Amino acid sequence: MDKKVINLLNEQVNKELYSAYLYLDMANYYSAANLNGFNNWFMVQTQEELSHAKLIIQYLQNNNIDVKLASINAPSFTFTDFIQPLEEAYKHEKYVTESIYTIYEAAQEAKDFRTLKFLDWFVDEQAEEEKNVDELINKFKLFASDGKGLYMLDSELATRVYTPPSLVL
Ligand SMILES: [Fe+2]
Ligand SMILES: [Fe+2]
Repeated sequence: MDKKVINLLNEQVNKELYSAYLYLDMANYYSAANLNGFNNWFMVQTQEELSHAKLIIQYLQNNNIDVKLASINAPSFTFTDFIQPLEEAYKHEKYVTESIYTIYEAAQEAKDFRTLKFLDWFVDEQAEEEKNVDELINKFKLFASDGKGLYMLDSELATRVYTPPSLVL
């Protein structure tokens, strides 16, 4: 497999693990504020990110490629209001989407059709991820401007359950 594609996939493992770390940090922020539904939402999000990292690792393993685990940066945000983590999460998902596109481009250049096929799932997944956070931001803006609305939204987010990825390698 192409060196550049291999490096980018390894870096993507780190980015997915950092995403998990970032969402754990956000979950902790909401937990400390007694917003257990928001905490749950981000805990589920963390599980999703771990599953993304595992999928890429599995893909590399299946193709006999060495997996290189690098250090995961500590999240460095100081949140000052309840909408801020949502907005940062949205920005972060856009960044991850760009990162997937970069690997996609490299795989196209290398005519690595196997990796392209693998990445197709991630392209769809990123569209879903951006949509989910964007919807949450819109709901927050519409309904969470008072305590009662925030309570209702928090109750809704408490019902989110983790579903394993549809992609099986
Ligand atoms: Fe992800
Ligand atoms: Fe994500």
